[in-house]
Amino acid sequence: MATGSEAAPVAAITGGAGGIGEATVARLVRDGWQVVVLDRDVDQAKAVAERQGVIAHEIDLADTRSIRDAAQWVEREVGPCRGLAAVAAHLENPHMPEDQDADEWDAIVRVNLTGTFRTLTEFGQGMLARRAGSIVTIGSITAFNSSPLQAYGPTKAAILNMSRNFAVAWGRRGIRVNCVCPGPTRTPAVEASYARGERSPDTMIRETALGRLVMPEQVANAIGFLLSDDAGAITGIELPVDAGVLATQVWGLYGGVPQPADD
Ligand SMILES: NC(=O)c1ccc[n+]([C@@H]2O[C@H](COP(=O)([O-])OP(=O)(O)OC[C@H]3O[C@@H](n4cnc5c(N)ncnc54)[C@H](O)[C@@H]3O)[C@@H](O)[C@H]2O)c1
Repeated sequence: MATGSEAAPVAAITGGAGGIGEATVARLVRDGWQVVVLDRDVDQAKAVAERQGVIAHEIDLADTRSIRDAAQWVEREVGPCRGLAAVAAHLENPHMPEDQDADEWDAIVRVNLTGTFRTLTEFGQGMLARRAGSIVTIGSITAFNSSPLQAYGPTKAAILNMSRNFAVAWGRRGIRVNCVCPGPTRTPAVEASYARGERSPDTMIRETALGRLVMPEQVANAIGFLLSDDAGAITGIELPVDAGVLATQVWGLYGGVPQPADD
């Protein structure tokens, strides 16, 4: 269970209509949370909510008013929000810096950086008033090193820094803040990009220590743990869930990750 004394504490998940989002909804329902699916894609959010037996509401991270409205709606219509998984993000395809589209840069910064910050400040208000809450933000392995995701990567690096700021600022006011950093994860959207030939699962698998990609449920398990009271002494951390991609990096200089002889 998420808490010891209260029944069905409320958890909100932005980006709940997406691949990692829906897996997180399912995990938090299993853990005993009363879950609210929040997403810009309302139809998809409602479909997820129906499948998982929870409720859905609109949020657009590009719009501060929408974030505030969603936070107030959750407090008013569902109950005191105790858990927040800030999963929503504007994704990006790889390219060179000189080819960066200026409008896409602005949109990514607005959603991933400003939108995530405002999600925490708006949903944090009730938590601060009650001196109780746990928050998980979503970074990425692109936050730790260079990548061809020219706008997305820097916003994810900023989310790591931001999460630590909140963890310290709010730690003595009863709120824990941690960041889960997925590696290449087999969401439906990523599977579709494999099918279109835009990305290659084999290339990605080669860069993992475990020889396989991450499943959305495995990211959701980390989020569920960090939101729960089992993680009561953990705040201000970044937890990679990446099948060992970060660990493999220097091996490339020496010929790459060793393959078992029978592979
Ligand atoms: N899938 C991966 O390989 C991977 C790797 C590293 C990090 N991540 C991170 O995991 C999180 C979930 O990604 P995913 O793979 O499930 O992607 P996804 O595209 O399936 O889900 C993202 C969700 O965010 C929503 N969203 C986008 N813009 C929004 C906005 N302005 N307001 C509200 N909602 C918005 C989308 O509608 C979608 O439902 C993201 O933060 C992403 O950056 C994913």
